[in-house]
Amino acid sequence: MFNFDFQAATNVLFGKGQIEKLPSSLAPFGKNVLLTYGGGSIKRNGLYDDIISKLGSDFNVFELPGIEPNPRIETVIKGVELCREHKIDVILAVGGGSTIDCSKAISAGTFYDGNPWDFTSDASLVGETLPIVSILTIAATGSEMNGGSVITNLETKEKLSFGARSLAPKVSILDPSYTFSVPKYQTMAGSADILSHLFENYFDHTKDAMVQDSIAEGLMRTVHHYTPLALENPENYEARANLMWASSLALNGLTGSGKAQVWSCHAMEHELSAYYDITHGIGLAIITPRWMKHCLNETTAAKFAEYGHRVFDIDYMDDTMAMAEQAIESTYQAFKNWGVPMTLGEVGIDESLLSEMASQTIKHKSLDNAFVPIKEADVLAIFKASLV
Ligand code: NZQ
Ligand code: ZN
Repeated sequence: MFNFDFQAATNVLFGKGQIEKLPSSLAPFGKNVLLTYGGGSIKRNGLYDDIISKLGSDFNVFELPGIEPNPRIETVIKGVELCREHKIDVILAVGGGSTIDCSKAISAGTFYDGNPWDFTSDASLVGETLPIVSILTIAATGSEMNGGSVITNLETKEKLSFGARSLAPKVSILDPSYTFSVPKYQTMAGSADILSHLFENYFDHTKDAMVQDSIAEGLMRTVHHYTPLALENPENYEARANLMWASSLALNGLTGSGKAQVWSCHAMEHELSAYYDITHGIGLAIITPRWMKHCLNETTAAKFAEYGHRVFDIDYMDDTMAMAEQAIESTYQAFKNWGVPMTLGEVGIDESLLSEMASQTIKHKSLDNAFVPIKEADVLAIFKASLV
């Protein structure tokens, strides 16, 4: 296990009715609040009205609506201008990873004398930041409990991340009932994203990180157990609660600290989103089983077999390779059974730009130190295997 520095810096307020604590969560930071949100789901499900009434006349609320899934750098810049103009004290981010990530870039961008896109090539440019309070509305990214942010520049076809500990929300309100209205497609995407965050650290060459891997296995089992239940009955509170807490724990450092943390599937998926603006979790679900197959060899088979046993209850057998193949097939089938479109063709991606995206993947991130080293030709092979 490598050395690490772990801090869970976010105060998580979990459960029904925690919104009562919103005013007291914001108050220590000041009165001028920038309320950021997405394309309107919070207006349709009543959360917006609830927030406005809770804040009453005690706060000066300014708004940045319309944050896109795969949030754009232009929207970040709009938010920075609002923060400067209204002398914002705290950002209240209400939504999913896109809204929270965009708010993080705004938070740091407000004090940066340049284009916040610069953070994606040099996170040390992040200096002073505005505090963020988040209200999570979809279980997926873990952005509610980490300092990471992923921003998209459609003009240059780039989707890149940066992070700073100071950007982790100070407080995150996690009320599972806010996720009752998440549509099936986004519920599946969110669950696939949670699993992928676990896979990225679990399938790693770091030896003897049993604590991290055991937590990851428990969270994987949780996601497999509750996702079908949430898809069947979107208002199943226990299902939504377990998925929401799994989302936060899968990417708050708990399972990644002490590991190499070279993320292959995310690097590949970010290119798909940058070029085709597809839903992050769906892209991951499509790529992941193909990446697993590509990584399977005599050295890695034991880890896949162990995963199959601990997550899917596959019985141990003499043929480790066969067991590993079964584990990978179980992963594919789980996504398929949820209803995920499991080919790139189904999400509108054809062969034409695969080579370019493969080259960009490696340009943006070296995957030499991954579980199995991945070069441009490997990315292209994985993309091609995902086509149909
Ligand atoms: O925009 P609105 O109208 O709110 O609708 C959203 C959006 O269309 C909808 N939605 C969210 N909550 C809802 C709801 N619809 C009905 N009821 C609700 N309660 O869901 C759609 C997707 O929202 P989004 O915020 O984009 O989803 P997600 O949380 O999956 O975030 C994805 C973004 O986060 C990045 C991804 O790359 C992507 O840009 N990631 C961020 C990470 C991080 N900060 O740590 C790590 C991840 O790996 C990921 O890369
Ligand atoms: Zn992700």
